[in-house]
Amino acid sequence: MRADPLRYLTDDLDSLKAQGLYRHLRVLDGEQRARASFDRRAVVNLSSNNYLGLTTHPKLREAALEATRTLGVGSGSVRTIAGTMDVHMRLERRLAEFKQTPAAVVFQSGFTANAGAVSSILGKDDFIVSDELNHASIIDGARLSRATIKVFPHRDVKAARAIVQDLPRDRRRLIITDGVFSMDGDLGALPELCDLADEFGCIMMVDDAHASGVFGRNGRGTVDHFGLHGRVDIQVGTLSKAVGVLGGYVAGSAALIEFLYHRARPFLFSTSHPPAVAAACLAAIDVLDSEPALIERLWDNTHFFKSGLQALGFNTGVSESPITPVIVGEASRAMALSDALFEQGVFAQGIGFPTVARDKARVRTIVTATHTRDELQLALDAFAKAGRSVGVI
Ligand SMILES: Cc1ncc(COP(=O)(O)O)c(C=O)c1O
Repeated sequence: MRADPLRYLTDDLDSLKAQGLYRHLRVLDGEQRARASFDRRAVVNLSSNNYLGLTTHPKLREAALEATRTLGVGSGSVRTIAGTMDVHMRLERRLAEFKQTPAAVVFQSGFTANAGAVSSILGKDDFIVSDELNHASIIDGARLSRATIKVFPHRDVKAARAIVQDLPRDRRRLIITDGVFSMDGDLGALPELCDLADEFGCIMMVDDAHASGVFGRNGRGTVDHFGLHGRVDIQVGTLSKAVGVLGGYVAGSAALIEFLYHRARPFLFSTSHPPAVAAACLAAIDVLDSEPALIERLWDNTHFFKSGLQALGFNTGVSESPITPVIVGEASRAMALSDALFEQGVFAQGIGFPTVARDKARVRTIVTATHTRDELQLALDAFAKAGRSVGVI
């Protein structure tokens, strides 16, 4: 019999099991909502990025259905051949207007927006100065670019400055940070990094995946929140989280967007969104503009839940956003807390290495605008019980 050349994968999985890092995929039985059913169990759902509840918003649903009825289910090609539909162009114009930039380009995901942009605008003679906790898609884009990557400790602008001042001025230098860090919920040091970029003539880029729809006027993101319009050259956002659908985008100058049309590999070599996706995203931007009460409710719920966790004695780290981690330390304990919560009717995913540092495993929570106070109180009561049962509080 042929020996299995992939045997080492099973060995690796066994090692994950031994470290308590192996996870079964929880299966969502119905719609992605604040109260949902996973693995046939009704739970308060604290694990989605569906900040505003738009995954099931009637206006988005209707827009997707109408686009499917009139335009079909697929685009049939990559954007640069035959896969650019009018609805794609309308979405890009709408996003540019929303972000207050001259232009925008949509990618298949936030991941490909980051990876495609970073890898195409820089080359092997260039430099990338990157916060150590930046998202994996930034790291992959940086590696693909073949530029030299210089990592500064999280939010440490002094360290970033020490790096930047030693870089050759005749090379392209990109400073890049997440707007909101996805595992800790804190904000990037945007204003200070913009000052640094201005002083040394660097390109400034922010990944606002978790800030779009959450921070800034009507959810315009951290650039708007900090009043930095015109000072961030490249803004990435996602359409998969608060916007509730799927996709990512880059907003910036007309030249940047035209360049990405010609050089960003996911744009060139992967099929564009089905029309239903683009149409639902367009409807979502309209909802952001017309229903600001959703974002107010998100923040009310965030303050209620975060202060509740803190009052119970949990370590919620440095979060400034609806992402509230409950930091536990060891991965096996984080997974035990997550499992105990699930037993109590609350889904909050445990997260360990390599997504976070080995000694900083956690249960990550995200409240949404659509959680009721009763649901959040039920979740706090479950945290109190589960936290005591696994010895976290
Ligand atoms: C900070 C950050 N950037 C980018 C992404 C990728 O976005 P998407 O899920 O749309 O690919 C994520 C999602 O996990 C993220 O957390």
